[in-house]
Amino acid sequence: MSEQYSTNLAAQFKWGPSSGKPGSPLTAVVAGSSSGNRAVQDIRTVELLEYALDGKTRETLCSYLVEKHDLVRAEAEHEVEELIESGLLLENHQQVEGGQTWFEHDWDRSLYYHLSTRDESVIEPRVYEQELETATQGDRDVIELPTPEEVPDEPLDKVLLDRRTCRDFDGSPIDSTDLSSILYHALAPIRKATRDDEQNVSDGASFFEASRFPLTIYPVVARSPDVESGVYRYELERHSLRNLDTEYTEKETDDLLQSIVVNQPFIEDAPVTLVISTDIQKFRHIHPQSMGLRHLFTVVSTHAHRLLLTANAFGFDVFQCAALKDSLADGVVGADGFDEAVVYTLTIGRETEEDE
Ligand SMILES: Cc1cc2nc3c(=O)[nH]c(=O)nc-3n(C[C@H](O)[C@H](O)[C@H](O)COP(=O)(O)O)c2cc1C
Repeated sequence: MSEQYSTNLAAQFKWGPSSGKPGSPLTAVVAGSSSGNRAVQDIRTVELLEYALDGKTRETLCSYLVEKHDLVRAEAEHEVEELIESGLLLENHQQVEGGQTWFEHDWDRSLYYHLSTRDESVIEPRVYEQELETATQGDRDVIELPTPEEVPDEPLDKVLLDRRTCRDFDGSPIDSTDLSSILYHALAPIRKATRDDEQNVSDGASFFEASRFPLTIYPVVARSPDVESGVYRYELERHSLRNLDTEYTEKETDDLLQSIVVNQPFIEDAPVTLVISTDIQKFRHIHPQSMGLRHLFTVVSTHAHRLLLTANAFGFDVFQCAALKDSLADGVVGADGFDEAVVYTLTIGRETEEDE
């Protein structure tokens, strides 16, 4: 009997940014495949992959393209061959074992991580070479943050005991100095480890090393007297904000943030939300084993909670949330959801005081 082919369960589709590049903005990528992103030139490819979901012979797939899409036989054969080579179509026995179960449990991100790491060498993990963005003088999109204030002299146990999740913000703004202080002090250990490493390279890998820091923090500012409403990227080394999109009013920023959290109205009236993404690709290289994903979420939480407690120490209240609509959250900061994905938000502001 002829071999049956079906659509790879690990295939993902994504609309690319309208970068003005020629070709289709729709790309297909297969987690764990070395063939990279593949531009989907024609919607018939998506239709064919849908048709192939339950397994079809090569011959049937070609006939489908000939009959439904008027391709000549040679073109149809070429197209099916290309889909097989790029890993979008797999022989049935090549499908990941128990594949459907991963999706039924909403474990797709774990599946993609597993597929992308299962062939990495455990013995000799690849060394990640840090790509430092070169600072350009007079860059108008970069806002230097003011000098941070000292952390208030408050005992840690008091900060911990007084901390409560805030679900009712009072609409008051945050200024750039407070934002600067929170970001600066929460991430100070990472900057410090980097400086120490420069002096003592043989010191070994530290949890705090900037080259191993897998997060990007995007402050989304809604209310501030001296920072325009909009989306920014925090640049750790330069302690500055890069303006990504400030075409928003306060209310639009609230609505934007509201649209990325699952059924939770608490972000409204807060001055700033830190949208935290992880560089999954970088983390895979540092921790090539499958358990790297679990480790990644621990790392994210640890850094996020330092940000949270630093904000508390400066007298702010915080709403932490991981219940996000993934692709919408990615869209706000321009993450692609494959190599970089948003995993956490911290909304910082002041809680409405209760009437006595
Ligand atoms: C990772 C994480 C995600 C959370 N996500 C939500 C959330 O989506 N919605 C919510 O109301 N609370 C969320 N919380 C807050 C918890 O519900 C809260 O911490 C818990 O109720 C204990 O209350 P406390 O933080 O005031 O001590 C989250 C907490 C953590 C640590």
